[in-house]
Amino acid sequence: MPSQRRDETPTPVGQTERQKLHGRRKGRPLRAGLQRLVEQRLPELSLAAPSGGGTLKLDRLFTSPRREIWLEIGFGGGEHLARQAADNPEIGFIGAEVFLNGIASLLRHIAQDGLDNVRLWREDAQMLLPILGDAALGRVFLLFPDPWPKQRHHKRRFLRPQNLDELARVLAPGALLRVATDDASYLRWILRHLLDHPDFEWTARGPQEWRQRPADWPTTRYEGKALAQGRRPCYLTFRRRADGRDETP
Ligand SMILES: C[S@@+](CC[C@H](N)C(=O)[O-])C[C@H]1O[C@@H](n2cnc3c(N)ncnc32)[C@H](O)[C@@H]1O
Repeated sequence: MPSQRRDETPTPVGQTERQKLHGRRKGRPLRAGLQRLVEQRLPELSLAAPSGGGTLKLDRLFTSPRREIWLEIGFGGGEHLARQAADNPEIGFIGAEVFLNGIASLLRHIAQDGLDNVRLWREDAQMLLPILGDAALGRVFLLFPDPWPKQRHHKRRFLRPQNLDELARVLAPGALLRVATDDASYLRWILRHLLDHPDFEWTARGPQEWRQRPADWPTTRYEGKALAQGRRPCYLTFRRRADGRDETP
């Protein structure tokens, strides 16, 4: 079974015009050590929207310059994000996640691995995209987004036209959008919307490229559960076109 929705939480202030896409913000109470980590590290690592409006100054996010900024949306327990951050120290990472227990898990990875190139966005990721500048990102990861399997909930799927337009705007020409899913209906939806979009192209040249997780694509907790339950994930990589038009005849 794909992930099921959890409880409903109040819509954050400022999110009235956009459909709320995410589920619960808290799970089981955090153990004392994790709670301490959240209190100590989360405020300094969290991003906030610029108070006077405008876009986030990404070149000021980290203590030293970073070659590119990569974003992971809905990082869950943070395994993939932490691994990418450790493997790519020249890159600055933003992780967007609303679920506190997942955020705490990422903070533990950050502490254990001594990472200094990760910042956190704790609200709905669709509130982050509008405050990123054009072509600000070198890569975006959306791994096992909630599939919202019921037809009446499809409008909550993250990869819907409005967010795809925003992703196209914030991704630099040639930048990659990596998406994983184990849900057949969401897979069809993703392919339909991405292949129809003038700014994206699918990089796969054959089935082995989407059936097998690439070597530089660390596994996630959700993927482990899917595989243990006999589901077969798909690993999709799309490229932000340089000119927004398909050059193939
Ligand atoms: C099915 S889980 C997958 C987690 C992780 N990517 C993995 O593969 O293990 C989806 C995650 O996305 C988060 N999420 C869903 N919608 C979100 C949104 N609009 N903004 C930020 N996080 C979101 C959820 O809280 C949840 O942790």
